[in-house]
Amino acid sequence: MTLWDRRFAKRRSDPRLDAFLSSIHEDRFLWPAEIGASRAYAGALRRAGEHARIRAGLATVKARIEGGEDLGRFEDIHSAVELMLTEEIGEAGKKLHTGRSRNEQVVVDERLFLKTEVPRLVRLLRECQRTVVRLAERHPGVIMPAYTHLQPAQCVLFSHYVMSAFWPLERAKSRLLDALERIDVLPLGVGALAGSTVPIDRKALAKSLGFAGVSQNSMDTVSDRGFILETLFVLALLLLDLSRIAEDLVVFSSREFGYLVLDDAVATSSSLMPQKKNPDVYELIRAAAGRLFGQVAHLYVTAKGLPSTYNKDLQDDKVPLRQGIEEAARVLEVFRIALSKIRPDRRAMAKKIEPALFATDLADYLARRGVPFREAHGAVAEVVRVSEERRKPIDRWTASELRKFHPRIGEDAKAVFSADHSIGLKRTSGSTHPDQVKAQVKEAKRLIASRGWKRRAAFVSRTSVR
Ligand code: ARG
Repeated sequence: MTLWDRRFAKRRSDPRLDAFLSSIHEDRFLWPAEIGASRAYAGALRRAGEHARIRAGLATVKARIEGGEDLGRFEDIHSAVELMLTEEIGEAGKKLHTGRSRNEQVVVDERLFLKTEVPRLVRLLRECQRTVVRLAERHPGVIMPAYTHLQPAQCVLFSHYVMSAFWPLERAKSRLLDALERIDVLPLGVGALAGSTVPIDRKALAKSLGFAGVSQNSMDTVSDRGFILETLFVLALLLLDLSRIAEDLVVFSSREFGYLVLDDAVATSSSLMPQKKNPDVYELIRAAAGRLFGQVAHLYVTAKGLPSTYNKDLQDDKVPLRQGIEEAARVLEVFRIALSKIRPDRRAMAKKIEPALFATDLADYLARRGVPFREAHGAVAEVVRVSEERRKPIDRWTASELRKFHPRIGEDAKAVFSADHSIGLKRTSGSTHPDQVKAQVKEAKRLIASRGWKRRAAFVSRTSVR
């Protein structure tokens, strides 16, 4: 059943072609938006008597869809709602389409969908942030080795490492809220591409649907899918960050590192090797970025090379839209749970704090005594090399032995071989110094509690079409 049957002399005889052209299985999820937008549009048509009938009819249609009615006989969700409405209220239902094109309906639905889903994702991000802060606060004094190239580098506070997961979440929040500004634009009233002959008050319609503004060019309005792509890319970027964190968790919870106790809740075992405990939850979080990247690539390539305004290729945007959002939400929920199960093994970390981690501190010591850093670095590099040759940890030299590598090394030099000392000497903001980590946590809490994001997403409650 379509909205344009009478254009053709004969009905298509091959159901496979109908199925191929139809998008109902992919856009069914937009039904709450379709009904909400239709209700508002009926109001904008300003036919008072019919408006009430249409609203009542839409309520029945809503109940039918909610009741799980099979919509497979319709071409898409827009046709479904309109034709079901006509089944319910007859003539008046047919009038709903006056001046309205599916080209604009599809984007209004997608925008309304995102106006609900993006704030939901922002809320999930905030919950993850809360869990991150809680984890950081739970283990204030724990020190761990940190790595570059996965080779031991310098000591940091475990809480500092944990807080490094807070900021990517904050950036994702900020990017999503920024994308919302482009999403929050009403397309309705642009017709198929040229505008509508029905004198619709678009500003009033925007207001009744909770949009912040109206689109400025009818042709651009039906062409643009950037608001979806942008959102998906932000999510792809977020999952890339989560993938990195998940990889750390896999490594740190391995037997070789043992820095994190692998909680049973996030692990599975092997069907063959009874001793195995595998970090599957972390691994699947690590994998998820691939899906989001796929959604972005799918829509980007589909849109590339299309001429302006609506082309049927664009019908293919529903799958990446829905799956991308669902996937990101699913991963965020699990990520938060996984974080809440993390327990550091303070002793395993301490065991891996080898004296070589303080080589930089020894060079810094010399630099504080006025030695040019290059020279200091060279002298300490020699200490490290000779220590390695003699299989002697670098903190085993006496101060006077060390002095042979550089004359400015004094009796107090050996104080550098301590993790607390190393961390306590970091001075910059954002560093692993305990005071700086405290300041970081404080700022993080301020950001979590900040009402700013709520204000930016406030229109959502007004929009709710569910
Ligand atoms: N099902 C279509 C889609 O999702 C709706 C728009 C149809 N417009 C058209 N000119 N055929 O893109």
